[in-house]
Amino acid sequence: MRYLVTGGAGYVGSHLVAEILARGGEVVVVDSLVTGHRGAVVPGARFVEADVGDPGAMADVLGQGPFEAVFHFAARSLVGESMRDPLLYFRENVGKGASLISSCVRAGVRKFVFSSTAALFGVPQQGPIAEDAPIAPVSAYGESKAMIERMLDWAWQAHGLRVACLRYFNAAGADPAGRLGEDHRPETHLIPLAIDAALGRRDPLQVFGNDFSTPDGTCIRDYIHVVDLADAHLRVLGCLDRASIACNLGTGRGNSVMEVLRAVEAVGGRPVPHAVVGRRAGDPAMLVAASGRIAAETGWVPHFTRLEDTVATAWQWREAHPAGFGD
Ligand code: UFG
Repeated sequence: MRYLVTGGAGYVGSHLVAEILARGGEVVVVDSLVTGHRGAVVPGARFVEADVGDPGAMADVLGQGPFEAVFHFAARSLVGESMRDPLLYFRENVGKGASLISSCVRAGVRKFVFSSTAALFGVPQQGPIAEDAPIAPVSAYGESKAMIERMLDWAWQAHGLRVACLRYFNAAGADPAGRLGEDHRPETHLIPLAIDAALGRRDPLQVFGNDFSTPDGTCIRDYIHVVDLADAHLRVLGCLDRASIACNLGTGRGNSVMEVLRAVEAVGGRPVPHAVVGRRAGDPAMLVAASGRIAAETGWVPHFTRLEDTVATAWQWREAHPAGFGD
């Protein structure tokens, strides 16, 4: 089986590429390397440096098919950046997404798996969030992903493109074999920042608010391991023989910021220097997934169910790669 992975040099995409290759599949990675890293392209994958919004380049790549499925990860994904420059997110994610979907329809692609996000749900009622919760994004990033979900629904209706929209909660952890990890520039995510603070590579971690309506006052998130995310992408392909589908992907378990810091301390055996500061704009108190649909449809369950186990894989990669992928 041959697969196309856009954004395959990024954090979640590279872990999917590793999983496909481990299962004996073939992969073509398309990445512009604007936020991805050449060093994150797993050996064994064919790499094309191109922009998904370039119809000529994409026609060439899609001509190397047929592809069993296209996995579309390539996107801007920083909530804060999207609030400062929302139109960047509509140009990069929505405009180029529409162009890529058109290229896929023209090339006769049958199955399309889209990296969506819990940010679709905005500031939800507390409690696990199921797929039928209201779509009400409060960031331009979340809005851009919601718009692509809608475009894909039209592509299904008009052209029969079978689509899986996978809404990730907080992607976390790293390849247990130590080959891949999380390397965002700038890094804004809690777990890598906490690890760097513990390793003395950064200033103390800023805890964004301890006055939320949660047991310890800090925000609760659902940290889902990237390897479990990769597994979900491959399992959902079977559903696409029947219909399109949208699934939430999380562990169903929430952890507060302070619980994450304690997990990092337990794994690393050293304290995480930190200070509580004011809230970050737009942070809901709690985001936890109800992932019942993918469990019912594919039997998927996350294997990393202990936060410490997820954090341990992140620690291993980050400690060993102080310069990330080094480019
Ligand atoms: N946090 C801190 N200090 C930091 C960084 C984060 O206290 O320096 C807190 C945040 O306030 C939040 C939690 O740690 O409560 C997690 O923050 P992240 O920035 O790691 O992740 P987010 O929950 O903001 O967002 C992530 C992805 C989004 C995605 C969302 C879905 O970055 O793309 O998960 O749940 F939409």
